[in-house]
Order: sequence, then structure tokens, then C-alpha cells
Amino acid sequence: MADRATLTRRGLLVGIGAAGGAGAMYAAMGALGLAPAEQDKAFTPPRPGDFTLKGRGAASVVVLGAGVAGLTAAYELGKAGYDCTVLEASGRTGGRNLTLRGGDRLTELNGPAQDVRFGDGVYFNAGPGRIAPWMVTMDYCRELGIPIETFVNTNAAAYVHTNGRTVRNKTARADMYGYIAELLAKATHQGSLDRRLTKDDRERLLEFLRRFGDLGPRLAYEGSERRGFTTYPGMGGGTEIAGPAGLHDVLAAGVGRAITNDFGYDQATPMFQPVGGMDAIVARLTEAVGRDRIRTGARVTSITDLEHGVTVAWEGGELTADFCVATLPPHVLAKISHNFGQKVTTALKTPVPVAAGKIGLEYGRRWWELEDRIYGGVTETDLDITHIWYPSYDYHAQRGLLVGYYNSDEAAQLYGALTPEDRRHRALTQGKKIHGEKYRSELLSSVSIAWERQPHLQGGWVRWPSFDSSFTLLQRPSGRVYFAGDWLTHLVAWQAGAMESARSAVTQLHQRAARSA
Ligand code: ALA
Repeated sequence: MADRATLTRRGLLVGIGAAGGAGAMYAAMGALGLAPAEQDKAFTPPRPGDFTLKGRGAASVVVLGAGVAGLTAAYELGKAGYDCTVLEASGRTGGRNLTLRGGDRLTELNGPAQDVRFGDGVYFNAGPGRIAPWMVTMDYCRELGIPIETFVNTNAAAYVHTNGRTVRNKTARADMYGYIAELLAKATHQGSLDRRLTKDDRERLLEFLRRFGDLGPRLAYEGSERRGFTTYPGMGGGTEIAGPAGLHDVLAAGVGRAITNDFGYDQATPMFQPVGGMDAIVARLTEAVGRDRIRTGARVTSITDLEHGVTVAWEGGELTADFCVATLPPHVLAKISHNFGQKVTTALKTPVPVAAGKIGLEYGRRWWELEDRIYGGVTETDLDITHIWYPSYDYHAQRGLLVGYYNSDEAAQLYGALTPEDRRHRALTQGKKIHGEKYRSELLSSVSIAWERQPHLQGGWVRWPSFDSSFTLLQRPSGRVYFAGDWLTHLVAWQAGAMESARSAVTQLHQRAARSA
């Protein structure tokens, strides 16, 4: 592990967590004054036996939204026999968990519908696409019997494209690590760090830097076989990729973001995906909740919090339940007629929706495997497509699907404002800079999504200006209405956030219902 003094507080906690497990981590968090009370307790699903009063069943709950938060809430409440009704404005369950396959039709606000023409077995996770192993999403996959497989998030053979140049990820890493190691080794050797280092420290640091950068005997970075080969070793010794460029050029390439993504605690390898498409989570949760409890096509028009219940009206109906769990995006919820009061309304309007987009590009030949030897993973770019994802499933199959852009904010807005044809055209023009003409000429079909144009969602996720009192206010009920969604957690834009938040709402609601039963 690195020098303690150089570790961030979060880095320290992750390190302790990895070495000593969650218990050790929370003990350390307590010592640092960081542990929120509820994080000390594991989630206990509600059980029918929690209701002590004879003859009275569990309460009724109206859940707004059949996305991952709404389905998780209804699923957990259902374990104790709550009478749940889930109202969903769109025609399907899942919310942003959306997997598109041949035969599907994607509609957008103010845009033409797209008919998905992918071949058999080809799918496109248009929303969430990867799961970190520590996330609660994995526990639901286990509990619901959803098979998972590795999602290749980092691939040394994928590319880094910056400033108009394309190199393999392994080459970019080797050069950057090599030069950093050289600089630090030389500074160490010349005594520039003597105030920080003992003689032993110095020796140990140099020993590490030689390995880290694959340095030569004079502590210089002169290239390394880590950069990769144009012909790999076999009967012959192989031909290494020519280079490296000098320090100045390597620094000027600006590969920092591209080669540090997997340093993030939420992006570190390995990551996982359900076999056959992310919507396996939706399918199993929907089944577990019970289709008869879910009313699709029910766009909520008003929410009235009353003394003894909550009345929810939608186009075509109305019901009153003991409680409500509202899981709509905050900017959508804020626009629905309600009596939550000014403070809650202001809080709901605080998080800002963020545009996000993706395009699925289907090819009849997996040229990235055949020619580039890329099996899964991500090419990082400084282009407006941001990333290209290669599929981590069905290796060596005939067809395959790339994610040709996955972007957010301004880049997503730029693509979102285009027609599907123009989005494809732009994505192909950009990807061609990395992969050449085949990227355009071999395309079979495509479909693109602009999440800010999805009815009832109107955003990829939200951004809180700060996790302030609005954030904490909405983590508590407003009368008999509980809020839930990834937007109410520090895991914004993760299904795990939606699930954690649903669990929190369920726990609070159940404690109250069990008390009054
Ligand atoms: N959770 C999203 C991702 O992994 C933001 O890209």
C-alpha cells in the first residue's frame, strides 16, 4: 500500500475496507466521525411477523414509478405482505434500465421513433451497463437468480485517442508510468526528496519505481515491452511498437482521464453485467412484485397527502393508500400537482437534470476482435463520443454491437438535438478516426437514445449543486409520502443508488407502519 500520508481519507477507508472487511471499515469510519447511523445496520427486509396486531394486515402503499427504485420498494414491501400498487407512466417497467433488441421501438419526445433491427442475440444496454462488485445490485442479482458475467471495463488492448492520435491503452499507460517513474526516481536519486525520505525509504522507493516504470539501469525510461508489439513474440522475439515519444509529447497527449478511470472505487476492475442484458434485473423484479400489481400507462396527475392516507390520481383513475413511495425523477415529480409544501417543492427543484446519450452500432463481423484483438473494454477519447464500448459477451459470435458513444452534458445535448440519422453519421465520423473506414462501411444498423428526451424521465441522471439540506430533507418522508431514487443517494446514476434508497424508504415506512399496526 502507498505511504499513509499520501492517502486521501476515502482512499484510506477503501484500503481498510479491502483488507479488513466492512466491519473494520465502519469501525474506522466511526473513529473518523464519518459513519452515518444507518450505515451501521445491515438492511433487514420487512417480514409479515413484524405486524403484531392480530387481524390487521400490512398497510397499503402506492408506489410511483416502476423503475429500479420503485420495483425494489414494491418487492421489499411485498415480502411483508404490503398491498402495493405500482403506477408507471410509460408502457414498460424498468425506467432507465433499458435493454433494446431487434423488434423494439424507441420513441423520444419531439423526435421520430426508431425501430430496432438488431439480429438475434444482439442487445444494447441503453441505460446502466456495469455493476461494481461491492454494490447492492449484485445482492439482488444473487437473490433473484440472475446469472452474471464479467464486464470488461478496462482493456489494455483498447485505444486511447487524444489530440488526434490513437495508441493502445497499454502503450499510453507504459509511457506515462515510465516517465513519471523516471522523474521521481531521478529526483529521489539526486536527493531532492531527502527531507521526506530516509535512506531506506529512498532505496525502497527506487526499487518500486524501477518496477512501476520498467526503468533502465540508469533510471531512464527508454520504452518497454509493456507498450505492446506490432508482431507478438512466438517462434521469433516479436517486434515492439516503435517509440516511445519523448516526455514532452507524452505529457502533451493528455491521456490522464483515459488511463485513470479504473482507479475510481466505482469503476475498478472487475465489474459485472447480467447475462443476456441488464433488463434481466427488471424482468425478475417485475415478476417478483407481480404484474397484476403494476399499472403501466398511468401518468400521475396529482398527489394529495392526507391525515390518514395519500390520494394519487392518474389519467384514468385514482386511489387512496396508507402510504406513498414516490420514485419519479425530482424534476418530474416537482411538476406534478401536490401538497408537499414549499420547502419540499424547492428541494425537489434543486437537483439539476443531466443530459446523457448512447448509440448502439451493430456490425456483421466482430472486426474489433478479429483485427484489433479487443475483447470487451472501453476506448477512451477526447472526442464528443467520449467512449467506445466493446461487447463483453458473445465473443467470437458472428455479429456484435459496440456502444459508439456514451456521453453526458454538452456532448450529449449536441447529439440529442440531432436526428437519429445525424447522430449515427456523427458517431461514425468520429469512430472512423480510431478504427478506419470499416467503422462506417460495415455497419448493419444502429439505435441511439437521448435520455433527456425520454418521456417521464427527461434526463440521464441529476446533479446536486451540493448534498445540502434539500438532499437530507427528501431522505425523510413528507407526511405519508416517502421519496426514493438514485438521486437521493451518493450513488447518483447507479442502480445501486436506486436500490439503497428504496431500502431506506422501505425501512422507514415499515418501522412506522409496524408501530401503528
Ligand atoms: N454509473 C454510470 C457509469 O458507470 C455513470 O457510467
